[in-house]
Amino acid sequence: MAVDLSKLYDRDFELSSGVELTFLQSEMGDVGCVVWDAALALCGFLDHCQERGTVNWSKQAVLELGAGTGAVGLVAASLGANSVVSDLPELVPLIKQNIDTNREKLSGSCQAAALTWGDEDQMKSLKDASFPEGPDYIMVADCVYYQESVTQLVETIVCLSSSKTTVLCSYEDRELGDKEALQAQFFKLIGEHFTVSEIPMSEQHPELSSPDIHIMKFSSKS
Ligand SMILES: C[S@@+](CC[C@H](N)C(=O)[O-])C[C@H]1O[C@@H](n2cnc3c(N)ncnc32)[C@H](O)[C@@H]1O
Repeated sequence: MAVDLSKLYDRDFELSSGVELTFLQSEMGDVGCVVWDAALALCGFLDHCQERGTVNWSKQAVLELGAGTGAVGLVAASLGANSVVSDLPELVPLIKQNIDTNREKLSGSCQAAALTWGDEDQMKSLKDASFPEGPDYIMVADCVYYQESVTQLVETIVCLSSSKTTVLCSYEDRELGDKEALQAQFFKLIGEHFTVSEIPMSEQHPELSSPDIHIMKFSSKS
């Protein structure tokens, strides 16, 4: 479904440095038109890492998958990373508008890209153009929610990563429908390629963490 860019409303996000980003969301469109809580928790974690000095985001090559508004990639870019923020082609105009809105607040760079999980041509051209050696980080917020895409999402993470890539993946506990089974399937497939650990709440942003939102870290087994 196309995103209606004439019906936008914003959500502000303040980093610990005092820099304030604006995430534009659309009243009309699919699930990618709004910023989900799992994305906000991941945004907070990136900021908290920089503030505590556990990660310096400057010049890190970051790829966000299923980015929706692009919130996570934008926070990374505002902390100095060079981000590519990707989603289905219909979300790219909203991502571009968010990049334009925040451009002056970014100390790194941020680009939008169309990337449908499992699309071999798109994966190859993104890899060749932006990540020939793999990104330093792949970010995935709230992207495991329907059966048909689970295998393709894992395939995309595996295809675009390299042995140096760390994946940060956040999700919210939901008891609705088959969500728990989907998460289990996703982590089983991911576990064939990556070592999975959970970021403890004590290391997350104190105000943007919640017991029902998890941030997982995947490190390559190769
Ligand atoms: C629940 S939203 C999360 C958006 C954003 N990461 C956040 O947390 O605010 C799921 C996102 O996955 C994207 N998505 C779903 N299926 C996809 C696919 N096959 N390829 C690429 N992106 C997809 C949707 O367009 C949407 O932006």
